[in-house]
Amino acid sequence: MQQKWWHDATIYQIYLRSFFDANNDGIGDIKGVISKLDYLEDLGVEVLWISPHYDSPMDDNGYDVRDFYKVSEDYGTIEDFKTLRSEARKRNMKIITDLVLNHTSDEHPWFKAAKDPSHPEHEKYKDFYIWQPPKMVNGAREKPTQWKSWFGGAVWEYVEALDEYYLHIFSKKMPDLNWRNKTMRDELKAMIQWWVDLGVDGFRVDASNHLEKNWSFPEGDPGQENFSSLPKHHEYLQELGEELFLPNDLLTIGEAGGASREEALQYAGKDSKEFSLLIQFEHCWADTDDSNHLTPGKWAKGTVDWPAIKKSFAKWIKTYENEGFHTIYWHNHDQPRVVSHYGNDGQYWEKSAKMLAMSLYMLPGIPIIYYGEEIGMTNVDYEHLEQFRDVEVFTEYQNFINNGASHETAMQALKDRSRDNARTPMQWDDTTYGGFSSKQPWIDVNQNKDTINVKAQQTSHSILSTYKTLIKTRKKNDINRARATFHDLDDPETFVYETHTENNDYLIIANLTENTVTYRNQVPLDDYELWMANSEPKQDALEPFDAFIYYKKRP
Ligand code: NOJ
Repeated sequence: MQQKWWHDATIYQIYLRSFFDANNDGIGDIKGVISKLDYLEDLGVEVLWISPHYDSPMDDNGYDVRDFYKVSEDYGTIEDFKTLRSEARKRNMKIITDLVLNHTSDEHPWFKAAKDPSHPEHEKYKDFYIWQPPKMVNGAREKPTQWKSWFGGAVWEYVEALDEYYLHIFSKKMPDLNWRNKTMRDELKAMIQWWVDLGVDGFRVDASNHLEKNWSFPEGDPGQENFSSLPKHHEYLQELGEELFLPNDLLTIGEAGGASREEALQYAGKDSKEFSLLIQFEHCWADTDDSNHLTPGKWAKGTVDWPAIKKSFAKWIKTYENEGFHTIYWHNHDQPRVVSHYGNDGQYWEKSAKMLAMSLYMLPGIPIIYYGEEIGMTNVDYEHLEQFRDVEVFTEYQNFINNGASHETAMQALKDRSRDNARTPMQWDDTTYGGFSSKQPWIDVNQNKDTINVKAQQTSHSILSTYKTLIKTRKKNDINRARATFHDLDDPETFVYETHTENNDYLIIANLTENTVTYRNQVPLDDYELWMANSEPKQDALEPFDAFIYYKKRP
C-alpha cells in the first residue's frame, strides 16, 4: 500500500462552536482553537477536523452553509483561518475541514435565486436543487411523497411562487443540491479547490452517501432508501476523488452511515478513487429498544449490546486488513457522550471512561477522538426543553408528545440521546462557564465542570493522562497498522483482544459492565507484563469497569 502522510496520525474532532471562545461572545471561534494548539500538541494529536466554519444562519450549527467562501462571523475571519493553518503547521499538525456538499442553506444566493421566479438567473439556479410539483389528491395539493427527513418532519417544503416543493432530507432550511447538474458540481469543485489552495489538508465529507436521489420519486414512508446510498453517488465521489482529492494528496473522510463491507471498500479501499477513510456508525447506537413506540428509533434507550459492538470492530478491522485503513472512534457531534452512553457517568465515571479509552484505542486503525472525550465529558444535565439548541430536538420532542409520551419521558429521551449532549462547551476549568468563555455560552455548560475539567486532570492518573499515554504509545509502536486477535466476541461482559505490532504484543482485558465478572484468563499471561491498569488486578475476577493492558516484547 502506498505510504500516505496520514497513516500514522491521530485525528481530533473540534466542534468549533463549543471548543474555546477567544473573543468572549459566548461562541467558540477559530482564535479559540489557535490558543489551544499547545494543549492539542501536548495531547499528541496531529490532525484537527474542524466542524463547519462557513458563513451560515446556523440553523444546524453551520451544516447549513450560506457562503462557502466566507468564514462565519461567529467564528472569525479568513485571516484567522490562515493563521490557524500556519500555527498548526509550526506544530506539524494538519487541518481538515468539514465539507458540506449535499445541501446549502436556504439563505445561500443559489437557493434565493432558485425560489424567486423574477430573479434573472432563476432557471439556472432552480436546477441546482430538487423540485417536484404537488401531488393532486381529490383536488387538493399534497406533498409529492411521504418521505421523512432525518430530522423528523417531511422532506418537502412548498414554495408558493413556484407552486412546487423542494426536497430537504435534513431541516427545511437545508435544501438538497441536485448532483445530476454538472454546472452545480463544477461550482462546488471550484470551491473545494479554493480551500485546498488556501492550505487545508483534507476534508470530512458530510452526508456523502446522500448525494444521489431516486428521481422517480416513488411513494415511501419514511422512504429513506430513496435518498441514501444509491449507486450513482459513487460516480460523483469518484469525480471529486480523481479531480481533487487524489491529485492534492488530501486526507478525506467520507460519512456514510450503514455502509456494507463492499461499499466500504468502494469508498475507502486502498485502490479507491473516492475517500481515504470512512465513518459508518455501525457501533454507535447498539442500545436501541425496538419495542419503544413513544420515543422510537435512536431515541429509544435499551441495553447495550456489547457483542454487537465488539463484532462490529472486528468486522471493520478485517474488512480493511491489507485493503486500507479502518477508523476507530466512539462517537462524534451527532451521538451522546460515550461515557454516559456506553459507560457510567455516576459512581464509575472515571473508571469507565478509562476503560472505554483503553478498550478502543489499542485497536488498529486511525483514531478520531472527539473533543472533551479525553476528559470524560458527559451528557447534559438540562432540566428544561429551552436549554436545548439542536434543530432536531424540537421536531422530535413534538413527535414524542404526538406519540403519547409525557413531557418527562420526552425530556429523558432528549437527555439520553440528543445531539446536544455532545455539543456543550469544553470544560477547561471550574470557573462559571467552565473556562470556555467569560460570557454565558450559546448552550449551557454542564455543571459537572466543577469536577470534570482539563485543569483538574493535570495529574498522572487522570482520564486525560490515560489518553495521552495511549496516543503516544500508538505512535511509538505503530498501532494504527497493527493486527488484532479477538478472544471473546460473544461475551456480553468482557472485551479481550491482543494487538500485534511489529515488535510487541499487547493483551487488553476489560470488564464492560458495572457487575463483578468471574474471569479466567483465556490467553496465557506467560511473558506478559502489566503495562496499564485502571485498578488493581484480582485473581479470577474483574471488578466493575476494570481494564488492564499487558505488554510483551517479541523475542
Ligand atoms: C451529518 C452531520 O454530522 C450532522 O451534524 C448534520 O446535521 C447533517 N450531516 C446535515 O449536514
